[in-house]
Amino acid sequence: MTGPVAGDRYGSGVGAPGRDAPDGDQAQAGAEAPTGLEARGLEQVGVDVDVEGRLLGPAAGPLEMAEEVSLRPRRLGEFVGQAQLKEHLSIMLEAATRRGEPVDHMLFAGPPGLGKTSLAAIVANEMNAGFRVTSGPALARAGDLAALLTNLAEGDVLFVDEIHRLARPVEEILYPAMEDFQLDIVLGKGPAARSLRLDLPPFTLVGATTRTGLVTGPLRDRFGLVARLDYYSAADLELIVRRSAGLLGAVIDRGGEVEVARRSRGTPRLANRLLKRVRDYAEVRGNGSIDRAVASEGLALFEVDELGLDKVDRALLSALCTRFGGGPVGLSTLSVAVGEAPETVEDVYEPFLLQLGMLMRTPRGRVATPAAFAHLGVEPLSPAEAGHPGLWG
Ligand SMILES: Nc1ncnc2c1ncn2[C@@H]1O[C@H](COP(=O)(O)OP(=O)(O)OP(=O)(O)O)[C@@H](O)[C@H]1O
Ligand SMILES: [Mg+2]
Repeated sequence: MTGPVAGDRYGSGVGAPGRDAPDGDQAQAGAEAPTGLEARGLEQVGVDVDVEGRLLGPAAGPLEMAEEVSLRPRRLGEFVGQAQLKEHLSIMLEAATRRGEPVDHMLFAGPPGLGKTSLAAIVANEMNAGFRVTSGPALARAGDLAALLTNLAEGDVLFVDEIHRLARPVEEILYPAMEDFQLDIVLGKGPAARSLRLDLPPFTLVGATTRTGLVTGPLRDRFGLVARLDYYSAADLELIVRRSAGLLGAVIDRGGEVEVARRSRGTPRLANRLLKRVRDYAEVRGNGSIDRAVASEGLALFEVDELGLDKVDRALLSALCTRFGGGPVGLSTLSVAVGEAPETVEDVYEPFLLQLGMLMRTPRGRVATPAAFAHLGVEPLSPAEAGHPGLWG
C-alpha cells in the first residue's frame, strides 16, 4: 500500500499462522471509528497492518474473494437485511428503469464485509447494465480513469471500491464526468497545451468506502444517494447462514444457524467464513451435518468464542482486566502486553470490543467495563487490589 509512510509496515509479533486464507487487506478491518491514526493523517498505513490469516478479520483474503462470488446475492430480493436501504434502492432503480435512464450515482459506506460490493453488482444486475470494477488505489493517474470512462457503454455501472483513496487529480476528473457526463482532457504541455472536452455516455458511478470521513465533500455531494450499511442483526445473519448453507450444499439445522450467526460479529462475510469452517469440522469429525453442538465444538476448536471473540481479543481483555486491574492503561502498554503493534490494537482489535461495550477509550487510557469482566468470568478488582492506593489516603 502506498501511504504517507509507505513501506513502514507494522510487524506484529503475534500472528495467527495458517488459520485461514491470508487476508491481505486486513486493515480496513473494523477501523470505522476515527482513530488516532486518521487524526494524524496516516490512515492508509493502517491498511497494511499485519494480521494476516486472522479467522475473524473482516476483510476478504485473495482466495476468499473468488469464493465469495458464488455466495454473493445477485438480486435485491436475495440481499438479506438493510431493509431501509433496500427500499430506497428499489424505488430509485424502478424510477430510473421507467424513465429509461441510468440510475443516479450512489455511495455505499460501511465496515468491510457488510455487502457494499454485492450491492453495487446488484444495482448493475437490476438495471440490466454492464458492470465495470476498479478501485481508488488502482487509478494512479488521471489518464487511467479517463481511459475507463471513455470505454463505458451507455448505462454501465462503474464501481469504484475504496473511493476515498482516489488521488486528487483523478478525483477531479470525476466531478464533470459525474455531473455532466463530460471529460476534460489536456493535450500537450506548456503554452501549446489545449484542453478538450469529450462527451461521455450516461453512466452510474457506484462508490464504496470503509472510511466515510475520508471522502471529500465535493465528491460526496455528487452522489444522489449516500448510504451507510450497518452491522447485521442476529436474525438477519441466521438468514444469511441459511442461504449460504443452501448454496454450499451444507446441511445445517436451526441450532447450527443460530450458533454460527451469533459468533460472526454482525458481518455477513464472517458468517460465511465461519460456516465454511464449521462445515469442514462437521465433515471431518462428524457425520457432515451441522447442529448446535457441532457448530459450537467446531468454532471452539478454531478459538472463536460465543461472542465471536478470538484469541487475541481475549488476550487483550484478559491483560486489561487481570494484569492492569481493568485500567485505565495506555494503548502502548496494553499493546506490548499482547505483543501487537499499537496501531493494530487500535484499528483492528478495539473497534469490535468497543462495539460490544467491553472496552472504553478514555483520556487516561483504556478501561474494561463490567461486561468484559463478566465475559472472562473474572471478578473486578477492588480499587486497592487494582493498585490505586491513592484512594486509601
Ligand atoms: N445482505 C447480504 N445478504 C447475503 N449475503 C451477504 C450480504 N451482505 C454481504 N453478503 C455476503 O458477504 C460477502 C461479502 O460482501 P461484500 O464483498 O459485498 O462486502 P463489502 O462491503 O464489499 O466488503 P469490503 O469492504 O471488504 O469490500 C459476500 O460474498 C456475500 O456473500
Ligand atoms: Mg467490497
